[in-house]
Amino acid sequence: MIETLAPKSPDPLLKIIRMFREDPRTDKIDLGVGVYKDATGATPIMHAVKDAEALLLATQKTKTYVGQQGDVTFLELVGQLVFGDIAHEMTAIQAVGGTGALRLGCDLLRESGARRVVLPQPCWPNHPSIVRAARLEPVDAPFFNIAEQRIDMEELISALTGAEPGDAIILQACCHNPLGADFSLSQWIELADALNARGLIPFLDLAYQGFGDGIDEDVAGLRALVARAPEAVIAVSEAKSFGIYRERVGALFVKAAPRARQAVMSNLAAIARANYSMPPDHGAAIVREVLADEALRQSWRDELDQIRTHIKRTRRLLAEARVNSLPMHLIAAQKGMFSTLPLNEAQVNTLREQHGVYMTDAARITVAGLREADVPRFVEALKAVA
Ligand SMILES: Cc1ncc(COP(=O)(O)O)c(C=O)c1O
Repeated sequence: MIETLAPKSPDPLLKIIRMFREDPRTDKIDLGVGVYKDATGATPIMHAVKDAEALLLATQKTKTYVGQQGDVTFLELVGQLVFGDIAHEMTAIQAVGGTGALRLGCDLLRESGARRVVLPQPCWPNHPSIVRAARLEPVDAPFFNIAEQRIDMEELISALTGAEPGDAIILQACCHNPLGADFSLSQWIELADALNARGLIPFLDLAYQGFGDGIDEDVAGLRALVARAPEAVIAVSEAKSFGIYRERVGALFVKAAPRARQAVMSNLAAIARANYSMPPDHGAAIVREVLADEALRQSWRDELDQIRTHIKRTRRLLAEARVNSLPMHLIAAQKGMFSTLPLNEAQVNTLREQHGVYMTDAARITVAGLREADVPRFVEALKAVA
């Protein structure tokens, strides 16, 4: 039976990563892969993370399973970091990365009777796959004008009129991947009103806290929306904020009426149990140690500040460039690791083939992966195609 399986096409990003690896040019520029790189092009381990790991090595006494919910102290600390004063309203479970949290959330929605999930486009390419894997139907909604690099609130809100009560909508909390375009606080409030009026459930995806304007600033919109929503689902990834991508650290938070909390928790536990049983410990333990210790927490905040400052500087350098038809100045106003340039496939291919500049087929660039030394060559390459 297995021999009848039809092959699936690989993730398009993997193709670009392979092409980059096989390109013999020494001055090639990688803006495809979605990880932060420092000025030397490395993705280093944060000092606070190294210190927390040393502490764990010295003090950990057992490797027995963590509980079904995961590391409860980790969940409390992350809950505080994300929600502040409204953290006590959440039911939480540790997850296998932000991706795992998104899947848990989709499975929970399906168990609750939801059928469809609205995805403002363009979205993170894994969102539709996760929604479908949970046997929910993804529904596209227009959201962003790439040529003008602006969020189109009118289009988005009017697309919501086609949604039905009980449908969910996935919204990225900050540092949008792949657009770098975030809602303003007033847009978040407008969205909250529109979702409440139609009985839609906000499903927030927070994967870049601290990469935009600051740890608290980046979740101001999320908090405003969640405070106004009777029910909400929030998937959190700590891969980027702590630079611990491969440790697979995430959490799912659910806001629901107090009387529903026990059912929410037991459903989440049952979904997790049938998937991977118990979550992995190490990455969550690192985050717990860093957030619980004043000195480690400060060290982490300082390093995150440096990362953010570095990304903002790269954005400013790009914004100062004059590239014919491209609105480069708008890129500086965007947030986080990514932006999407208004380039067509032929232009993206020419950049790759003739200039050794790699980005996704949809022209997403990892601003956070661009070395300062490469900016002039990148800008020259853009000028040659746009
Ligand atoms: C928007 C968004 N959500 C969720 C994730 C998931 O992160 P992870 O599963 O690595 O924790 C990512 C990672 O790239 C992302 O960009």
